[in-house]
Amino acid sequence: MNISNDKSKTTPRHFLDIHETPASELRKIINLAHSMKKKGRKDLPDHLSLQDDLTVLAMIFEKPSTRTRLSFDMAMRQLGGETTILNANDMQLGRGESIADTAKILSRFVDIVMIRCNSHADLEELALHASIPVINGLTDLSHPCQILADIMTFEENIGPIKGRTVSWIGDSNNVATSWIHAASQFDFTLKLACPSELSPTGKQLEDINNSGGNIILTSDPAQAVANSDCVVTDTWVSMGDEDIERRKKLLAPYQVNADLMKKANEKAIFMHCLPAHREEEVTTQIIDGPQSVVFDEAENRLHAQKAVLAWCLQLV
Ligand code: CP
Ligand code: NVA
Repeated sequence: MNISNDKSKTTPRHFLDIHETPASELRKIINLAHSMKKKGRKDLPDHLSLQDDLTVLAMIFEKPSTRTRLSFDMAMRQLGGETTILNANDMQLGRGESIADTAKILSRFVDIVMIRCNSHADLEELALHASIPVINGLTDLSHPCQILADIMTFEENIGPIKGRTVSWIGDSNNVATSWIHAASQFDFTLKLACPSELSPTGKQLEDINNSGGNIILTSDPAQAVANSDCVVTDTWVSMGDEDIERRKKLLAPYQVNADLMKKANEKAIFMHCLPAHREEEVTTQIIDGPQSVVFDEAENRLHAQKAVLAWCLQLV
């Protein structure tokens, strides 16, 4: 790709949300991620190599990140491309330049952009005005790249996710939303246990009602983990949440601990997107115990990201 090209005439393939990506394409991405993991860094087929094209990924961060930053950076390098990391506060975006103009500028310099932003509406605005692919690296509403890695991790440990049961315990946050989107696309049962004060509302509830998937809402963690193959939780306080003490109080009964894990299937795995807060949403015994696959999950961000990049760049 030539970086001075005006790409306004091409149709970019964005990765914005799980429910906005056709199920067959999601399966293609996951299968590619599995095969890329098996191959490792070597033996990349020619059609997946960016080596000769000077292809550059820009990453924009309005919020902190360890895994998303590292996995996209390493994924792009392993594909033979390059990255540039932009802190939103150091850009004119942070001083009020419009997202539309930023999208047009990015499209003239780089080939693909990943953004982690506060507002989902900003992601959509960026995608609307960009002539290059835009990837959602987490918003207030969703975290689709995480769920690709999670499904990959589920399949490595349990087998195909179709027809299986996943339990979400705790806050109905952005990661929970992407699990909600995934349930119908991958055809599994999702049981969510959340305190009524932090249960899905608004768009998230609409997504549940529109999903056509098998999604069960409860306030009882024991009910949610019964017959489950995978117990998932996340921080009680997401980036941008302000009501910290109230959340900790409401979510205390939703801790994933040995008593709760015993109520799931004997071979159930434990997942957490990380970063974790030991002895809050999960006990040390569980997150560092034999059922936990959290570090495989983190590594799989790399393989899933490589597959997403290849898909967005239309290499597959
Ligand atoms: N799970 C995840 O997205 O981690 P980071 O916030 O470190 O990127
Ligand atoms: N729900 C968390 C996920 C972090 C990867 C947050 O938004 O802070």
